[in-house]
Amino acid sequence: MDITKRILLGVCGGIAAYKSAELVRLLRKQNVEVRVVMTNSAMEFVTPLTFQALSGHSVHSKLLDSDEENAMGHINLARWADEIIIAPASANSIAKFAHGIADDLLSTVILATQCKVTLAPSMNQAMWLNPAVQENITLLMARGITILSPDHGSQACGETGPGRMIEPAIICQKILQAEHGSLNGLSVLISAGPTREPIDPVRYITNRSSGKMGYALAEAAKGAGADVTLVSGPVALVPPEGIKVLAVETAQQMYEKVLSCSAKANIYIGSAAVADYSPVAELNKIKKKDANKILTLLKTRDILASVAESHEALFTVGFAAETEHLETYAKDKLVRKKLDMVAANWVGRADGGFDKENNAVTVFWPGGQQDFPMMAKRNLAQQLIQLIAQHYHEKN
Ligand code: CTP
Repeated sequence: MDITKRILLGVCGGIAAYKSAELVRLLRKQNVEVRVVMTNSAMEFVTPLTFQALSGHSVHSKLLDSDEENAMGHINLARWADEIIIAPASANSIAKFAHGIADDLLSTVILATQCKVTLAPSMNQAMWLNPAVQENITLLMARGITILSPDHGSQACGETGPGRMIEPAIICQKILQAEHGSLNGLSVLISAGPTREPIDPVRYITNRSSGKMGYALAEAAKGAGADVTLVSGPVALVPPEGIKVLAVETAQQMYEKVLSCSAKANIYIGSAAVADYSPVAELNKIKKKDANKILTLLKTRDILASVAESHEALFTVGFAAETEHLETYAKDKLVRKKLDMVAANWVGRADGGFDKENNAVTVFWPGGQQDFPMMAKRNLAQQLIQLIAQHYHEKN
């Protein structure tokens, strides 16, 4: 049978290391080629022979080994993998990855790789909750590393709390879900960026939106197998490959484009920062003859609410950028605009949001919510697309 993917499994020291043997077996059953790198402490828990037998390849563990370097050294291993999974990821290795320490084979491979890296942490609950570990996790997420948050439950040490590695079957499912494209065959329409509302032929009103979140969502939806159309306000971004981009300027133009494309879409994600008001534009350039100038602003049409109203079957996702009462306002938008989901984020803060590389959101849907901590927009987009796909499939 054809190999579908090459996964490098990093095993760190921890009692959950025995579960990773099962992970190798599950991945192999799905035609995934697995090679294993073990840390020294991992080998105290499980022998390399177990992983060798299950993966069909000898296990890598030494950084400075002349035979290894010639055959499958750290650079080759880093290049070979389509994806790297570290399960279990120990607090010590997490700290090394976060701070760029490369003192063993696994941490060196992580520094050398350019592929997707996913960590399944496993440790005592107090260690997991320790700010040092949490800050390292936040740092890694902000750099685009995916974290499969540990389960809550009874632990080998006799304590109860968060820190137990998630089950191998779930890890395997998450890896393959991403592989098979959770939005295969679906049409996703996304609005992005700001709008530009003319005051006269040379001036306009706009906002701080860079379009980065919407463009990242378009790329992630495309990566998940969707046919993506992006209706974009004026931004300084290169359109992602394989995506149909329709450029607009004003809220009215965005309204018309989105409405005309929405009939054949399965999912609409309204990430654009659409002007709520538009000036009554002057035909000629305004001259500065008056001491004061009052602009008359007319309310624009709500694109998201109109789309949700006119196509009931469409799965609609809105954004709510708030400076106060985040949860109340976001939930109000969910109900008032009849949406399936709202991703709410704080704005006007130093570390994320408008025109920043990172963002943190809380997503609300009828009867539930999920927090996504501060991370790179590209990584956040991938996680949001997974959540949207999961809820879309549950609804349909
Ligand atoms: N939106 C839209 N059309 C508009 C205004 C907003 O489609 N004319 C969409 C945005 O794309 C976003 C969501 O509505 O997904 C939230 O936008 P926001 O302006 O924050 O919400 P409002 O409903 O306008 O509420 P408020 O101004 O009270 O924050």
